[in-house]
Amino acid sequence: MARLRGKVALITGGAGGLGSATARRFVEEGCRVAIADVDDDAGESVARELGDDCAFVHNDHLDNDSNAAAVVFAVDTYGGLDILLNNAGAPYTGKIETADDEAVRRSFDSNLLGPFRMTKAAVPALRARARETGKSASILYTASGQAINAKPDISAYTAAKHGVRGLMRSVALELAPDNIRVNCVCPVATDTPLFREMAREMSDSMETTIADFERTVPLGRLARPVDTANAFLFLASDEAEMVTGVALPVDGGMSAY
Ligand SMILES: NC(=O)c1ccc[n+]([C@@H]2O[C@H](COP(=O)([O-])OP(=O)(O)OC[C@H]3O[C@@H](n4cnc5c(N)ncnc54)[C@H](O)[C@@H]3O)[C@@H](O)[C@H]2O)c1
Repeated sequence: MARLRGKVALITGGAGGLGSATARRFVEEGCRVAIADVDDDAGESVARELGDDCAFVHNDHLDNDSNAAAVVFAVDTYGGLDILLNNAGAPYTGKIETADDEAVRRSFDSNLLGPFRMTKAAVPALRARARETGKSASILYTASGQAINAKPDISAYTAAKHGVRGLMRSVALELAPDNIRVNCVCPVATDTPLFREMAREMSDSMETTIADFERTVPLGRLARPVDTANAFLFLASDEAEMVTGVALPVDGGMSAY
């Protein structure tokens, strides 16, 4: 199968759990992928593993120059840009009364401002590609179950992820005339380094935390990175050419409650 044959993607946070799983899935389906991340060692290692159809570029998605350079890198390396996946983000836990201002600011920056800035940087290349190919270009965000539901003690993360969903909806309407589709995926807890860091801060026992989470999920398990990667695959492909402005839960039924 080559559901993304001929397409080029740029994935922020591409060295991490969900980003690297999505890069792998996209490459399997014929896409060429530039992974952008602050973590050079992990990013280079993922790119090496995925071969010629994957290349790494250092990126801090909070930095406008770095974002512009990452877009140029994808276009120069692979000849254009069809798909931007804004996936980089950082964990946050803490109660509202004792919240540290700097930690809250970092959560908003990493989970919302970075995706906003990278989107801004990539629109011209995506628009040009949609015109050139006659196919829609695609902007994707890794939101979260926290963009739809809420949990206590992670308010800054929840607020930022709700913001990502709002950003996605507004940009979807703004860019529809350019044939750029804009969607987000809302994964439930997924076993990645980010999840483990948040879980460690919220409980002493990782096993108890995971078991507690799993009991709340109708389908009875955490998500796997590939569950989310498969949702992105559909939304990025031409199969979804009439789908824009959608927040797709990959949550084992959580949002049905
Ligand atoms: N794991 C979960 O349970 C879960 C659930 C829902 C949503 N998410 C979201 O999925 C996304 C990916 O998370 P993950 O679980 O794969 O975490 P992860 O920690 O494995 O990956 C995050 C990646 O983002 C990179 N990154 C951090 N700051 C960056 C910056 N300023 N510029 C560029 N790259 C940066 C990190 O180096 C890392 O490689 C995040 O947006 C997260 O909020 C995760």
